[in-house]
Amino acid sequence: MKPIQVGLLGIGTVGSGVWNVLQRNQQEIQRRAGRGIAIAMVADLDTERARAVVGDSARVVKDAREVIANPEIDIVVELIGGYGIARQLVMEAIAAGKHVVTANKALLAVHGTEIFAAAHQRGVMVAFEAAVAGGIPIIKALREGLTANRIEWIAGIINGTTNFILSEMRAKGLDFDAALKDAQRLGYAEADPTFDIEGVDAAHKATIMSAIAFGIPVQFDKAYVEGITRLGAQDIRYAEQLGYRIKLLGITKRVAKGIELRVHPSLVPAKRLIANVEGAMNAVVVQGDAVGTTLHYGKGAGSEPTASAVIADLVDITRLHTSDAAHRVPHLAFQPDQMSDLAV
Ligand code: HSE
Repeated sequence: MKPIQVGLLGIGTVGSGVWNVLQRNQQEIQRRAGRGIAIAMVADLDTERARAVVGDSARVVKDAREVIANPEIDIVVELIGGYGIARQLVMEAIAAGKHVVTANKALLAVHGTEIFAAAHQRGVMVAFEAAVAGGIPIIKALREGLTANRIEWIAGIINGTTNFILSEMRAKGLDFDAALKDAQRLGYAEADPTFDIEGVDAAHKATIMSAIAFGIPVQFDKAYVEGITRLGAQDIRYAEQLGYRIKLLGITKRVAKGIELRVHPSLVPAKRLIANVEGAMNAVVVQGDAVGTTLHYGKGAGSEPTASAVIADLVDITRLHTSDAAHRVPHLAFQPDQMSDLAV
């Protein structure tokens, strides 16, 4: 069977990770998906940069609309970010009948209702595992693994940049600006790091989790948002002396009046697992009535961790293209005819 044809919009940090992981793990991914996954086209304003990643193995264009207009493309992966052109392109891709994979939490937190409605009407999928907590499969955990539960609350460290800054300030005594520069150099921060340090990025992600957990529309405008820019070295020191760590938490929970959604620096007792989540790592704690507390931990930002989540969505959509239910989600992850017996 011909590989499913993917078009990438944007090949920066995450896009090049998607390319590299797909090449490296091609065979395993194909066996899990039941079909090959090929990046056939890449659109990027910087065509030199794109060619440096994909060589001659994919068509490189400047104009994202060429990808969307190509009838051969089955899935469009939006890695441009922001609410502007990305929103238009996602809506156009849906209208053209393409499935969409996106890592764009800002777009979904603010315009998700419109986007999901359009996808529903057109009968295509919009998948977004990479939008929340990078490589941690928290969307699939909330939507699938924990689906039996009445979720009571979710609390998480869901912005790697700010957790990195807070960790560096505490452990190495770095000042805020130096720690932010390191986070940018390592590829954790958004193009405009204001979204990270002012808590907006975490609020986007909390908004998406809240919608899934509580069955409410995505409503970023309802979130209380406070970042870490007003914290100084002395706050971190005083917290430490009192036996606490300061963490920027995204919290969403059931309260008497409805669903609360907030992001702000929080004092967490130093003994708690989540207080010891350091660097750009993310962690999400989910409280469900049946399962109790679950903790989901991993890399929340960076090229390949985020690519891991994007490719998981590509595999999901590829499975849906196969004909019968048993093939869609294979019981043991590999398609039955694709397993090899390596047990010794
Ligand atoms: N800027 C984000 C962060 C990237 O630092 O967590 C991943 O969403």
